Amino acid sequence: METLRCVVVGTVPVAGDVEGVQFRSTGSACGLEAAALMWDADAVAADLQALGANEVRRLAVRYPHVPVVAVAPQERVAEAVRAGAAGVVVPPADGHALAEEVRRVVAHHRRVQEAARREVLQPLLRLRELAAADGNPETVLRRLAEIARVTVSADRAAAVTLCPAAAELVVGLAEVRGVHTAEGFWTVVPGRLASVPAGAEADDGRTATVALVSAGRPVGALTVLRHPHREPFGPAERELLDVLAVVASLPLVQLDLLHRLREGNRRLTEALAYACELHEASLRGHSERLASYAVAIGRRLGLSEVQLADLRVAGMLHDVGKIGISDTLLLKAGPLTPEEYETVKRHAVMGAEILSAAGFGEDVVRWVLHHHERWDGRGYPMGLAGEEIPLGARILAVADAYEVMTTGRSYRAPVLPGQALEELRRQRGAQFDPQVVDAFAEALSSGEVVAEAGWSTGEGWR
Ligand SMILES: [Fe+2]
Repeated sequence: METLRCVVVGTVPVAGDVEGVQFRSTGSACGLEAAALMWDADAVAADLQALGANEVRRLAVRYPHVPVVAVAPQERVAEAVRAGAAGVVVPPADGHALAEEVRRVVAHHRRVQEAARREVLQPLLRLRELAAADGNPETVLRRLAEIARVTVSADRAAAVTLCPAAAELVVGLAEVRGVHTAEGFWTVVPGRLASVPAGAEADDGRTATVALVSAGRPVGALTVLRHPHREPFGPAERELLDVLAVVASLPLVQLDLLHRLREGNRRLTEALAYACELHEASLRGHSERLASYAVAIGRRLGLSEVQLADLRVAGMLHDVGKIGISDTLLLKAGPLTPEEYETVKRHAVMGAEILSAAGFGEDVVRWVLHHHERWDGRGYPMGLAGEEIPLGARILAVADAYEVMTTGRSYRAPVLPGQALEELRRQRGAQFDPQVVDAFAEALSSGEVVAEAGWSTGEGWR
């Protein structure tokens, strides 16, 4: 069993080791000797009669980490508790009764401390929720503001990040309205901040701001506010806010890296698409238009934002495999021989191989591989039919056909958008997935997508 150390102040008749408690006496409650003993003590036993309630109160305030057991007559128990005693022993008390009470108050004090520690740790653990999985700075900032508000019991909290690539500051807000928290965000053009007068909001201790810093670089700021009728923030709350700021910087840095990574991928996709279009003037913009049609269809069909982003990439790069096909074949004006057609058909597989090797996602690779499959199973490269064909690939097929029809190719003249849509409808359930054709028709009629007027500059399309 652990031996507890108890400092005895005043004329309490106990000394030495009693049932796992080591009692040591000190002459005064506030001298150097007492201070040295208190530093290492688990509890203090104080004689209320000899010291007086004020002295007991002083001990409780001066050494908050050491619980006080008062030795007091029955009629002064309440007074001892009011003075801050965690436990009381009524004389005539022997060493056993005092040791038992010391063990009880120490155990209770430790439980309270543990609970307080957990209360402090809880918000830090909640910071795990900040993981920037969706890459959305607003979500991260709103959560951070709410965690900060709860942690230091503020009425309002705002988190702001300085995203180097963004033209605006992003601000997340959490605010108590009634019993609920309202969360929101807004963006601020940095130039406008200069018009806010410095020191406009006097700091009366009810506003606290900490910088979010990572590797010495400021990445944002966190501000918490309390209503004027409430207590100012205390030192412990400000320290907690400092800790929160250090830990919360990490997801913001992650977010920044994610943003840069996505930006890099976007540029790579565009560069590859541009390379594909270089060898045929009539292809300029084809991938971009196709991708915008595909995304409009995907949105109509309820695809997630992540899937829509993949669909855009697959749309941009669906024909990347044509890099490996000779221009003589791709630009041939007349019909292809069966052998030539077999060679051109290889672009679907080659495209998937290129994208897989370049580390693009599984969906992007699958959708590019199957973008020439047909709903009736007569397509290539695998002859899949119906819903065996991945949905993204069925969408690309419709978007591709519409784009090719409306802009024309070296081997065929363009047609009007209405005619192209008519053709899609004719092939509904044969070449194309009926629901995809319907979704595209709705997107076109609602004005979500507009056929770009490549067809009207038809001259020279052959
Ligand atoms: Fe293709």
